[in-house]
Amino acid sequence: MTTMRAAVFHGVNDLRIDEVERPRAGVGEAVIRVTLTTICGTDLHILRGEYPVRAGLVIGHEPVGVIAELGPGVTGYALGDRVLVGAITPCGQCRGCLSGQLSQCGHGGGYEAIGGWRFGNTIDGAQAEYLLVPNAQANLAKIPDDLRDEQVVLLADIASTGFSGAESGNVRIGDSVVVLAQGPIGLCATAGAKLMGAALIIGVDGDDTRLAMARRMGADVVLDHRTTDVVAEVRRLTGGGADVAVEALGTEGTFETALRCLRPGGRLSSLGVYSGKLQIPYDGFAAGLGDHHITTTLCPGGKERMRRLMEVVRHGRVDLEPLLTHTFALDDIVAAYALFGERRDGVLKVAIRT
Ligand SMILES: NC(=O)c1ccc[n+]([C@@H]2O[C@H](COP(=O)([O-])OP(=O)(O)OC[C@H]3O[C@@H](n4cnc5c(N)ncnc54)[C@H](O)[C@@H]3O)[C@@H](O)[C@H]2O)c1
Ligand SMILES: [Zn+2]
Ligand SMILES: [Zn+2]
Repeated sequence: MTTMRAAVFHGVNDLRIDEVERPRAGVGEAVIRVTLTTICGTDLHILRGEYPVRAGLVIGHEPVGVIAELGPGVTGYALGDRVLVGAITPCGQCRGCLSGQLSQCGHGGGYEAIGGWRFGNTIDGAQAEYLLVPNAQANLAKIPDDLRDEQVVLLADIASTGFSGAESGNVRIGDSVVVLAQGPIGLCATAGAKLMGAALIIGVDGDDTRLAMARRMGADVVLDHRTTDVVAEVRRLTGGGADVAVEALGTEGTFETALRCLRPGGRLSSLGVYSGKLQIPYDGFAAGLGDHHITTTLCPGGKERMRRLMEVVRHGRVDLEPLLTHTFALDDIVAAYALFGERRDGVLKVAIRT
């Protein structure tokens, strides 16, 4: 077979399963047969035309699969190895990568903003039977035999991102942490805060299913933003403001709430993807004199990140499978997008089997 089925972006709200050419591995590359993938909120932004990609692109960036082809120069792997590949595929060689900024990879050169995110963005992605993995040596993470695909697929993106919200916020043992929004990313940030040793975790959302899941993922208190003055309640619960606030939605409103929830010297860790303007109210950060830390993070990738995250799952520190609420075949992915996009039936993440 030289063709394969793949979810191809044809234009706004026009995604189709097409028969396309199957990729071949060149120097330093690998091809994997995708066994399980999922749909990200970012894919919804692409489909709706809110994040532009070229027509004809295969989308998706959360692959689990089996090595089907290894290009020259890729060593230490065998055909048939089960692998997890991060959503972000750093080259491992550029200034960005070698300075520790793998997500801002410059592909062998300097830095490129968001340059590490290639699948389903600048090159063909994972919602397909086969996937070409660039810089395979830096990006193929072997899956331990005792882990199933369903246990690891969410590590490629949402868990790596969500956990990084807590890591970049430098959560310390005993901290109070508020996580604004409990979508898949926020839920993983909640789990990440727990992994980092937070004493009090407050999850905020306006959806009952997600608030219930927030408790399951480690929130001690959940707040419904529809009925609660979140800033006042966080200040009351924390005795004057949280040590860390994680923004996991990407709106000016939640960013401002995050800032106002912090104690002086607190840390705002932002994961959301924003559009338009993001204005900071001067009184929310003591006119710039409040010793606040504000950081942003793009999903960490690369095989070492994936290995570490798989160890976290393997040793029972976190269980992400409850977030996989629905399963579809690749051929039915358009229906999966509809369910996921409309947030029907308590959906959190959909498993796509190929
Ligand atoms: N930094 C990264 O690398 C990265 C990676 C993936 C996604 N993202 C971004 O993370 C954000 C969250 O992604 P997601 O998939 O979890 O989104 P999602 O849309 O599934 O979830 C958003 C949640 O926010 C809740 N919400 C809405 N208004 C709220 C409010 N005022 N206060 C609290 N909660 C509110 C909704 O009920 C929903 O549960 C998006 O901006 C996405 O683009 C960032
Ligand atoms: Zn994503
Ligand atoms: Zn690089």
